Amino acid sequence: MKKFIITSLLLSLLSIGCTHDPIEISPPDTRLNWFNDAKFGMFIHWGVYSGMAGKYVGPSLYGIEYTEASPFLCSWSAEWILSQAGIPRDTYKKQAKNFTATQFDGNEIASLAKETGMKYIIITVKHHEGFLLYPSTIQPDWCTSTSGANGRDLIMELLTAAKSKGLKVGLYFSQNLDWMTEGSLGEIPQLYGGKYDIEKNRTYIDYTCKVISEIMDRYGEILDVFWWDIPQINTSQEFTNQLQNALIKHKNYNKRILQNDRLSTLANGDFATPEGVIIQKPERPYELCITMDGSWGYTDYANNKKTRLELLYEITNTVSKGGNLLLNISPKGDGSLHPDALKLLKEIGDYMQINSESIYGTEHSGFTHGQDFGRVTRKGNSLYLHYYVGDKVELYGINSPILSAKTISGRNIEYKKIPNGYKFIGLKKGEVAKVTFSSIIIDEGFPISNKMEETNLYAMSALAEGGLSINGFESGFVNYNSWINLWPDLGWLLKVENPAKYDIYTTISVDREN
Ligand code: GLC
Repeated sequence: MKKFIITSLLLSLLSIGCTHDPIEISPPDTRLNWFNDAKFGMFIHWGVYSGMAGKYVGPSLYGIEYTEASPFLCSWSAEWILSQAGIPRDTYKKQAKNFTATQFDGNEIASLAKETGMKYIIITVKHHEGFLLYPSTIQPDWCTSTSGANGRDLIMELLTAAKSKGLKVGLYFSQNLDWMTEGSLGEIPQLYGGKYDIEKNRTYIDYTCKVISEIMDRYGEILDVFWWDIPQINTSQEFTNQLQNALIKHKNYNKRILQNDRLSTLANGDFATPEGVIIQKPERPYELCITMDGSWGYTDYANNKKTRLELLYEITNTVSKGGNLLLNISPKGDGSLHPDALKLLKEIGDYMQINSESIYGTEHSGFTHGQDFGRVTRKGNSLYLHYYVGDKVELYGINSPILSAKTISGRNIEYKKIPNGYKFIGLKKGEVAKVTFSSIIIDEGFPISNKMEETNLYAMSALAEGGLSINGFESGFVNYNSWINLWPDLGWLLKVENPAKYDIYTTISVDREN
């Protein structure tokens, strides 16, 4: 009896033999050249919340008094602590004294980004808490001037250091949501989750335009990216135009500045920013941003710490599908980084140091599905095989002659032809093979024949419409084929060589909490 075994945490739907069109990322816009080639950037979430490190003791608008014995602890998205704990504005304001930046050195962060192999940095100039990371004259009471950072211009310090090292720079700006400022859009903790009326919103948008102008006065000449956030709560054409004009009509605006797609639901921007999931068949340039531990802002209580392998998977998976990966770091209130984060960045940097030619300047690999051994990136007629899981390296879906197969450091790799692909022998885990073909024609499909007793279809090689995130890398590779899939379809392409009766089995396991 022939058996297929599918193991999963959450299994939705198995589709066999679906067809797919060639991938094309649209349209060549030279403004985006650097962005498309960069592939890897650093995201920095830093603000007053960072000084709180995920813990709050004090009154809550939601009717609770948090005490030392029973504090509010934030394990995810700690930059939302004001909203999560319901902290009153006047109490939250006092937290600014813990935002000291004493250990912050723009040069060190820029060097760290470079050593990790990142090509650009995006830092939060204003997050949903409304605090400005420079001495503002428009908002003098809620900026570095009235914080433990004593009026330092932390943005300029970082941007100039990054620019001097050849990195591109951008600013994250929460234009629609601002819990500390009257009139902001969205749900406001100070209003117990209620919203301001439209007239108040107008006043807030006017204020926000002034802040954009101030930011452009200060940094417009060196900015490469303006990174808006929370589009969903702005569906107004009037506000969209006002905010957009504040940026593009400023004297320091230059067409060079790229915008993401999060200004409002009515603005597309220059590139897409899916959150948390990979676009397997992208239609436009995109950038996926991820955290190292489930929280953008620093917290001592993060419970979803990623490993080196998971992060490498996220990078190569995104890059193999033509996107950029923006990896977040969460400095503490004093600007220092947690040693775990530094260790991970160092490990990624070590990988990039040897293998970066397989990342920068690559294009969509052409494979919509993944590979069981890792991921494939592509440059011209060369495919780069990133090997990090499983016990064999078999690439299905390409049959053109191989001209050469070597590790990036130049060691020859043996290979042999197998049905619908090649098997590579002698590649070690953690190595990348560069395989150059006479031409690249991709015809994906896992070969199945009635001579096979049984075979496994793994999560690593599935196509997940909408996105797939695989977990379990950390457990010594044993578990690497489990996944958490938040979308309806999972599929494998099979190439059935002989008609026969094939039985398909699925093994579904769930963890206790689910
Ligand atoms: C979401 C969150 C925000 C975070 C951002 C990163 O918009 O609200 O906290 O900064 O995602 O993409």
